[in-house]
Amino acid sequence: MTDVKIAASSVLAEPEESLIMRVFITGASGWIGSAAVVELLAAGHQLTALARSDASAAALAEMGVGVLRGDLDDLYSIRVGAEDADAVIHLANKHDWSNPAASNAAERAAVQTIGETLAGTDRRFLLAAGVAALTQGRPATEDDPSPFSGPESPRGGSENLAFDFVGRGVHTVSLRFAPTVHGTGDHGFIATIAAIARQRGVSGYPGDGTNRWAAVHRSDAARLVALGLDKAAAGTRLHAVAEVGIPTRDIAAAIGRAFDLPIASIAPDDVPSHFGWIGTFFGMDLTATSDATRSLLGWTPRGPTLIEDLDAGAYTVTSVAS
Ligand SMILES: NC(=O)c1ccc[n+]([C@@H]2O[C@H](COP(=O)([O-])OP(=O)(O)OC[C@H]3O[C@@H](n4cnc5c(N)ncnc54)[C@H](OP(=O)(O)O)[C@@H]3O)[C@@H](O)[C@H]2O)c1
Repeated sequence: MTDVKIAASSVLAEPEESLIMRVFITGASGWIGSAAVVELLAAGHQLTALARSDASAAALAEMGVGVLRGDLDDLYSIRVGAEDADAVIHLANKHDWSNPAASNAAERAAVQTIGETLAGTDRRFLLAAGVAALTQGRPATEDDPSPFSGPESPRGGSENLAFDFVGRGVHTVSLRFAPTVHGTGDHGFIATIAAIARQRGVSGYPGDGTNRWAAVHRSDAARLVALGLDKAAAGTRLHAVAEVGIPTRDIAAAIGRAFDLPIASIAPDDVPSHFGWIGTFFGMDLTATSDATRSLLGWTPRGPTLIEDLDAGAYTVTSVAS
């Protein structure tokens, strides 16, 4: 059973001297991972990354990262990577939005494998998580445990599963990223919403557009990964959140400005058909604070806000298929 008493603010020890570590990282070729790699290398760490394709392997090698060929579906490769490292950072995710159950099952299996491999070693294990649906009617804080446990849960209940290993001698730290980790080149949620706006010829927002999304710039999220590896105590939940919540109407308006499109309210009943799979998320209030993370790690977001990024053209050079 998950120890819900674990909280960021209550367990952080005094900062230790920075350690140089051999780090095994999954998802290093991804949006957040490739920026985190730069920060981790700059901090002096030696990185080995899981790579599932020749292209990812070549890109990682070019960055000065050791490559372990493997896949989320090849748990042996994940175990080998974790065994050989002082710390593991798990950022890979299938992100198969047409089959979330498969993504969640792979996520849970990877976390289980890493946890079992690190059990009894006190080694650090940082894993990606999100802030969606952690709380109702107020922004989530680092003290809010995830309500999701078990294989059928969002992300396969992986955050709580990883925290279960704290009691088995694993130094687990959760990296809860805002629902948009934005910037030039993003192929995530905001790029998808912008692509839908272009396809529809209108930049829509759900209902009255007062539901909000937290946000963080990619550079700040990447810095937090490296800081969390260095300083966060076992059981810590870190919030990679620079902005507590931006109304979806403001996001739609900025997308409209960026692509010279009108904006429009989309009736709640029409949100699924208008936005497709991402309508579920765009219709939610996904807010979170990061006060504890800032004070615990001395982390201060420095990047542009989401609206500044949109207005500066960060998404007009990016496109994804919805
Ligand atoms: N970006 C956000 O706004 C955001 C918000 C909240 C949470 N998160 C979470 O943060 C983590 C990183 O997100 P991201 O935006 O960086 O994701 P991303 O850009 O989609 O990258 C996903 C990474 O996972 C790897 N991957 C995918 N399927 C794999 C498989 N079957 N085997 C091995 N590796 C596989 C990809 O490798 P290839 O390069 O070879 O495809 C890539 O390195 C994820 O867990 C995500 O859910 C992200």
